[in-house]
Amino acid sequence: MPDIHVSAVSHSFGDGAARRTVLREVDLHLTEPRIGVVGANGSGKSTFVRLLNGLVRPDSGTVTVDGLDTVRDGREVRRRVGFCFTDPDAQIVMPTVGEDIAFGLRRRGLSRAEIAERTEGALTAYGLADHADHPAHLLSGGQKQLLALASVLVTEPDLLVLDEPTTLLDLRNADMVRRLVDRLPQQVVLVTHHLDLLRGFDRVLVFDHGRVVHDGGADDAVGAYRELATR
Ligand SMILES: Nc1ncnc2c1ncn2[C@@H]1O[C@H](COP(=O)(O)OP(=O)(O)O)[C@@H](O)[C@H]1O
Ligand SMILES: [Mg+2]
Repeated sequence: MPDIHVSAVSHSFGDGAARRTVLREVDLHLTEPRIGVVGANGSGKSTFVRLLNGLVRPDSGTVTVDGLDTVRDGREVRRRVGFCFTDPDAQIVMPTVGEDIAFGLRRRGLSRAEIAERTEGALTAYGLADHADHPAHLLSGGQKQLLALASVLVTEPDLLVLDEPTTLLDLRNADMVRRLVDRLPQQVVLVTHHLDLLRGFDRVLVFDHGRVVHDGGADDAVGAYRELATR
C-alpha cells in the first residue's frame, strides 16, 4: 500500500478580509487499504483529498505519497494517484465511452494495441462493453460514474481518491459503485456522506472546521461524526 504522509498542513483560500482557513495543522500518516473521510459540508474534506494528488498545494506543510512530494514531484504523484470527482461530467472528456477510457492511457507511452487491449478489458470489467461507441453524455448517472471510475482505474493508480462518488446516484447505482470499490486491490481514500459505504473500512477520519477531530475504526468514527452532527 502507498504510504501517505501529511505533515503540518494548513491551507487557506482568499485574501484579506475574505481569507478563510480551511485546513489547520493536519498531521497524518496513512497506510491502511481503506480510509474514509467524513464531516460536515465545508469542513475541508475535498480540500484535504485534493492535497493527495497535488490538485491543492498546501500553504504550509508537506504532503508525500511514497516519498514523492505532491508539489515538487506533482507529475509522478498524479501518475500514481487516481482521482474521481463527485460529478462524473466534470471528468468525462471524450465523446464516446471507449475513447474516454483510452484517453488516460495515451500519454503513458503504450502502443496502440496495448491501449486497445486495456480499454477493452476496462469496458468489460465495468459493465460497459456494450457501450464502447455510445456517446458518453447519454449514459445514465450510474453508468457515467462507472465510466469515470473505469477511466481512472485503467491507468492502474496505486491509490484511488474518491470524493463523494455516490452522491448523485440512486440506491442501485450507489450499491454498484460500493461493490466495485470493495473489490479494488488499490488503496482507497473515500469521502462520503453515505456512511454505509464505510462498513469494514480500516480507518475513518472525521473533519470539523479544517481539523481531524476523530481518527479511528469505522464504527467509532461514524459514532463520533453522528454525535458532532447532533450537537
Ligand atoms: N477553490 C476555492 N476557492 C475558495 N474557497 C474554497 C475553494 N475550495 C473550497 N473553498 C472553501 O473552503 C471550505 C472547505 O471546502 P471543502 O474542502 O470543499 O469542504 P467539504 O468538501 O468538506 O465540503 C468551504 O468554505 C469552501 O467554500
Ligand atoms: Mg467536498
